Amino acid sequence: MLNSRISRRAALMGAGAITAWAASPARALIRASQTAPLPGFIEPLIAKMTVEEKAGQLTLMAAAWAGAAATALNPPTAGATFEQQLDEVRKGRLTGVFNGAGAEMSRRMQTVAMRESRLKIPLIFAADVIHGYRTIFPVPLGEAASWEPALAERSARVAAIEAAAAGIDWTFAPMVDIARDARWGRGVEGAGEDVYLGNLFAAARVRGFQGKALADRDSVLACAKHFAAYGAAEAGLDYNTVDVSERTLRELYFPPFEAALDEGALSVMAAFNELSGIPATGNAWLLNDVLHGEWKFDGLVVSDYTGDEEMIAHGYAADARDATRLAFLAGVDMSMQSGFYIQHLPALVASGEVPMERLDQAVRRVLAVKARLGLFDDPFRRADPRREKAVVLSKPHRELARDVARRSIVLLKNEGGLLPLARNTRVALIGPFAGGQHDLVGPWCVYGDDAQAIDLATGMRAAAAQPALVSVTAGSGIEAPIVGGIEAAVSAARAADVVVLAIGEGTRMSGEAQSVTEITVPAPQMALAEAVAATDKPIVVLLKNGRALALEGAVAAAPAILVSWFLGTETGPAIADVLYGAYSPSGRLPVSFPRASGQVPYHYDHKPTGRPNPAGPLQEYKAHYRGIPNSALYPFGHGLTYGRIGYAGLAHDPTLAWGGTLTVRATVRNEGERAVEEVVQLYVRDRTASITRPVRQLKRFAKVMLKPGEAREVTFTLTRADLMFIGRDNRPVAEPGLFDLWVAPSAEAEGLHGQFTLAAG
Ligand code: NOJ
Repeated sequence: MLNSRISRRAALMGAGAITAWAASPARALIRASQTAPLPGFIEPLIAKMTVEEKAGQLTLMAAAWAGAAATALNPPTAGATFEQQLDEVRKGRLTGVFNGAGAEMSRRMQTVAMRESRLKIPLIFAADVIHGYRTIFPVPLGEAASWEPALAERSARVAAIEAAAAGIDWTFAPMVDIARDARWGRGVEGAGEDVYLGNLFAAARVRGFQGKALADRDSVLACAKHFAAYGAAEAGLDYNTVDVSERTLRELYFPPFEAALDEGALSVMAAFNELSGIPATGNAWLLNDVLHGEWKFDGLVVSDYTGDEEMIAHGYAADARDATRLAFLAGVDMSMQSGFYIQHLPALVASGEVPMERLDQAVRRVLAVKARLGLFDDPFRRADPRREKAVVLSKPHRELARDVARRSIVLLKNEGGLLPLARNTRVALIGPFAGGQHDLVGPWCVYGDDAQAIDLATGMRAAAAQPALVSVTAGSGIEAPIVGGIEAAVSAARAADVVVLAIGEGTRMSGEAQSVTEITVPAPQMALAEAVAATDKPIVVLLKNGRALALEGAVAAAPAILVSWFLGTETGPAIADVLYGAYSPSGRLPVSFPRASGQVPYHYDHKPTGRPNPAGPLQEYKAHYRGIPNSALYPFGHGLTYGRIGYAGLAHDPTLAWGGTLTVRATVRNEGERAVEEVVQLYVRDRTASITRPVRQLKRFAKVMLKPGEAREVTFTLTRADLMFIGRDNRPVAEPGLFDLWVAPSAEAEGLHGQFTLAAG
């Protein structure tokens, strides 16, 4: 966000933390492993390579030997057989493959590269390890709801340990796109709508994937994607046009990439979308000027899947040769899946349209990454079928998955203290997600398997006083009714004390290419909810979702609502922990849940407009929809616990000196009877500035444990860096003046309100 690396980090972490981190031995180790001078053998190696071998180092293809799941996640392209791919490896025409089939495959391919190719350059194996390898954690959006970046670091670490053992060197993660339009299906892969939270999760995930040193056999290379502003697709339609100002890019969409790169991510994936008229894949300003020039990134840029080829459909490149030239000269070092680089780079170099220096630069970047991964020292360092067997889905990994999963659940509403349920409650578990090993691991999961995951019914029956206390009725399909389903559900509800209604979205309703026009619970499930509500039994709505939803009718009216996203391998036990009170929910929304689909893109940090509606009833000629306030039903940051939390005692100086710090204190008290974790949030508003500022922006938060009756003082420190924004000249600026601050339980809760002045320097 800011100019120098150190000040960007300051903006992320606060001045004190930054000094400590910059000086820490761990940081020094990470930096050293990622920025060490290139090994001396690289230049002589490049000098030995033919142009075709160079183009081969820049060509990545989907693994021919892969399970159906791997190939189902991208559109089909003309495929090669495994034998044909081995032949390409022999000829030095392939740098590696992605989404392959485990350690055995990697070892076989690598053996051919090492024994039979002329230069014996090791292959690199990539994969979409987005939220776990075989032990599946909550989808990234769900995990962000934990508001615990340290947890995301741990889950990424486990994902890296499992994936590396299976021969994977490189994950196409983290996805760090800020997403504010819930129609877009890929918000599920990111950390939500907020830039501050997004920065923290981006950095944490990179730390987790890359571990202490990239060359470690349990580290994998991270890839910050999709550069840039993929989440700003017009109308939430995947792959659609993006047209945003440079200021918005620098203030909102770029910072999570900068955070990932600051943490040492050595690869970036170019986005599919065009950016204000120029496809990101052919965007020299984005890739050469900003990424390499300004940010001094010294890793590699890979296209997205056929991203270079798609510039033809964009109407930016005339043909395959043109697309190759445009992408390559713009800064895409490696081409994924189109095969364009191996087909066209040699001729483009021969004709002089692509300078040899550029070709060498791209090859150097790729070889450097391979070297930093330790592949030249031992190309087989990761792939180890025995280790793979031992680590995947191991007990500690599953235990962590359960903990992350329950920490990702958000309690939106709990009227009358309906939750937690007593273990001897007779529960009618109703809905398409009530039971069965389906829709558990969630979208963007190449290697996860629902058959290895524990479903809701199993989890609940294990937690109930007796399994028979939980009846299970589907009641409806996900998007189609079941004959007799509603009748069966109604009679199950009548026979129970409480209904747990497991409804929402199926796996294939979010993720890539799964944009929707309505962010609502599908109609057949709404009919089920209305019918069950008519029984007058208390209902706990348990949502499964990959995006923010607009809740309506009986669902919105239910006395208790939980958001459970897609929780992964330990779905059932994690939800049971929360439902029966073994764990008090501590998640907070990383995306606002608007009141209606038509409000999207809704985000809490919107601008005030010239006609904001004052608090209170809707007024004519003010900024709101007909009959609907311009606010969320459940805002960003919202989430309840099983306690009652009081906020009091806000204290801070009235002035922040230009070079000083502002310490903000507040006390939170657990007025309830159960131990809880509260997420205390600090928001700021710049009252008047040379560029209009959002109504609130998250600046700090802390998740604190509170025993029953316990009070704790929370302290936050702000500096001028936290108040900077991108000014008129598209550079960071801080301006003296008046600021509001809130210490509050959500972005739209009043909480504790104060004001301070940033004094001129
Ligand atoms: C397309 C997706 O946009 C990207 O995120 C993914 O990494 C690639 N396919 C490879 O599967």
